[in-house]
Amino acid sequence: MLYDWIKAFHVIAVIAWMAGMLYLPRLFVYHCDAPKGSPQSETFKVMERRLLKAIINPAMIAAWVLGLVLVWQGGWWKAGWFHAKFALVFILSGVHGAYARWVKEFAADCNTRPARFYRVWNEVPTVLLIGIVVLVIVKPF
Ligand code: HEM
Repeated sequence: MLYDWIKAFHVIAVIAWMAGMLYLPRLFVYHCDAPKGSPQSETFKVMERRLLKAIINPAMIAAWVLGLVLVWQGGWWKAGWFHAKFALVFILSGVHGAYARWVKEFAADCNTRPARFYRVWNEVPTVLLIGIVVLVIVKPF
């Protein structure tokens, strides 16, 4: 019973984390088209910082903490699907780290990358999300 409650809040945290991870690179794409120092650019800076600090960071911490409690309670650390899921979640957390770095670069007006770069990176969390959900629901191995 308690396990199911923890799982429910794990999924809620994951949804918030993924929503932010899918939206933030879209903001980067639009930010690239805003001239440095313009009011639009300053607005994007505020939106990016708030999205990262208020949603993405706390949601990631909650997803990790609750996910690790589920591993411990369910004894999943021996399961093959969990090893694969863990690897993908680890990569997703690395992508999160890269996004956080790019927020800082935009905040300092130091971005030199084109919008196309962020369009490509926008797809990475989607691909990881598909893999993670299939692994945890289907548990193919
Ligand atoms: C941050 C590290 C994470 C850990 C340690 C973790 C671990 C777990 C564990 C052990 C379960 C319970 C599985 C079961 O009872 O069958 C679970 C459930 C789930 N996880 Fe995660 N998870 C993490 C992140 C994620 C992410 C990033 C996603 C999606 C992108 C995700 C999606 C889900 C879903 C949808 C379930 C519910 C599956 C079900 O029982 O139907 N998790 N997680």
